[in-house]
Amino acid sequence: MMKSSIQAIHWTGSSLQLLDQRRLPHEEVYLDYQEATAVADAIRDMVVRGAPAIGITAAYAVVLAAQQHLSASPGNWHAPLMRDIQRLSEARPTAVNLVWALERMQQRLSRAGDDPVAALLGEAKRIHQEDIDANIRMGEEGAGLIQRGDSVLTYCNTGSLATGGYGTALGVVRSTWAAGKLARVFAGETRPWLQGARLTAWELIRDGIPVTLITDNAAAFLMQKQQVQWVITGADRVAANGDVINKIGTYQLAVVCRYHGVKMMVVAPLSTLDMGMPDGRQVVIEQRPEAEVLEQAGRRIAANGATAWNPAFDVTPATLVDYLVTEAGVITAPDREKLAAFHANLPGGGSGSHN
Ligand code: MRU
Repeated sequence: MMKSSIQAIHWTGSSLQLLDQRRLPHEEVYLDYQEATAVADAIRDMVVRGAPAIGITAAYAVVLAAQQHLSASPGNWHAPLMRDIQRLSEARPTAVNLVWALERMQQRLSRAGDDPVAALLGEAKRIHQEDIDANIRMGEEGAGLIQRGDSVLTYCNTGSLATGGYGTALGVVRSTWAAGKLARVFAGETRPWLQGARLTAWELIRDGIPVTLITDNAAAFLMQKQQVQWVITGADRVAANGDVINKIGTYQLAVVCRYHGVKMMVVAPLSTLDMGMPDGRQVVIEQRPEAEVLEQAGRRIAANGATAWNPAFDVTPATLVDYLVTEAGVITAPDREKLAAFHANLPGGGSGSHN
């Protein structure tokens, strides 16, 4: 296993520090948060992003809310705390990890006893550590599928920045690289927010893993030239039938993979599995501002008068997914029946995921 040196979410003892991902790779600036409402804004504004990372961040924000409201009004802290939780849950709609983490925090609160802040902090730290452990496990599971000498294309940022640490798809890349099996790592730029060019490339280079960037529209040609044997991505939500909701562009990669016989691996912890959503058609896809497409670094690049359609995520049908890697094992060619059986066999009957 290879360690990652990057920590995007840091609890100081009394406040939450987030590495401002909007300013990477050129500036490494941590912002300090003392109030949950400011953290909700940070999630919406992409200071922190990536499905597991926003869940962990929201969990620590609940601790901030409890701290703040208990000291401001010891006799009336529960209602303002619940308002903050509601606001956090609305920060971004698509990644299920956000509501998953908030539900876990609420469950812990309901049996917190006379020191709710300590109980909530313990739970937030557990959510954080469990995510790192799941990533390391998934890294090993995913690396086990890859042949020596294979090359991969990854997409968006699924690394330490997007999780509690190590990464989902990027964790598999890290583990496979550490095992000396990977020939080359390609990363898609990931328009319009450039998570691949700005964040994935930064993470990999920092950890000594050479990376070659491609424009998103070079992926099909890369596959036609037989330069990659795998596309490996994360997920923001996996529906009960195995449909994968992930960064816009994942679906077209999966389609092109199937055409070229390239394997599609999706790496997602149980906290991303939404057994309560029958298939991907029900998901709310976040629409982001047009300016992300029409401008670059605050400067307009599109012709004046043009408008933009900017969905942040898309839905990849389960039939296009070759492997779904979780910390509890790999599901080959996932479908509704296999996921139901997998979920039923989890320790605790699947309490780590949404029912
Ligand atoms: O809009 P983002 O940057 O939050 O989108 C992130 C992704 O789509 C990732 O692939 C996903 O969260 C899984 S990564 C751990």
